[in-house]
Amino acid sequence: MSSLSPSKLLSQNIETLSSLTINLPVLDLACGAGRNGIFCLQHALPVRFADINQDNLKTIKHSLAQCEKNNADLASFWCVDFEQNVSDILVENSFSAVMVFRYLHRPLMDQIKSSVATGGVVIYETFTTEQPQYGRPKRSDFLLKSGELVEFFSDWEILHSFEGVKKSDTAETQEAVAQIVARKL
Ligand SMILES: C[S@@+](CC[C@H](N)C(=O)[O-])C[C@H]1O[C@@H](n2cnc3c(N)ncnc32)[C@H](O)[C@@H]1O
Repeated sequence: MSSLSPSKLLSQNIETLSSLTINLPVLDLACGAGRNGIFCLQHALPVRFADINQDNLKTIKHSLAQCEKNNADLASFWCVDFEQNVSDILVENSFSAVMVFRYLHRPLMDQIKSSVATGGVVIYETFTTEQPQYGRPKRSDFLLKSGELVEFFSDWEILHSFEGVKKSDTAETQEAVAQIVARKL
């Protein structure tokens, strides 16, 4: 299992992203080493990699340079702090999809929703309040309450939702997560 293996949730829903006819990139928000955005590039989707950590963005560029058919021309990079106290970090209707994995900053949720174009999709998976039984994170700011993710997207078409314990995508451990795949109406 490589740290660049994509999330199972994303691989199960890549057709949903591929079938979008919106001519805008997919945002990999708080992308880390880019495992999910790189998977989208491999499926010929344009991706905007965004993270606060410039080294993560350099790592992604390095990873792309390692493989021949990398679709690197479809990638763009954005070093950004999503926790600045401003209301317009994310521009309205600027992405066909936003994917967020293992990151939560509640004040950003409305901006995430408005940054997706109508008909576009959000794919979100992060830890719930059950997670401290299994490992980090333990801070409540970083943990979704029961039903919270579905509630955030209650005015969208919910294509998939899950809340419970599953095997980690990147380690031989269990983790408590909530997942959603939802389409903006
Ligand atoms: C647990 S990692 C998840 C990485 C990736 N989404 C994944 O699942 O592989 C959390 C990421 O959030 C980024 N991050 C943390 N605070 C941030 C902020 N204020 N603005 C942007 N990115 C941030 C970190 O640099 C890190 O790459």
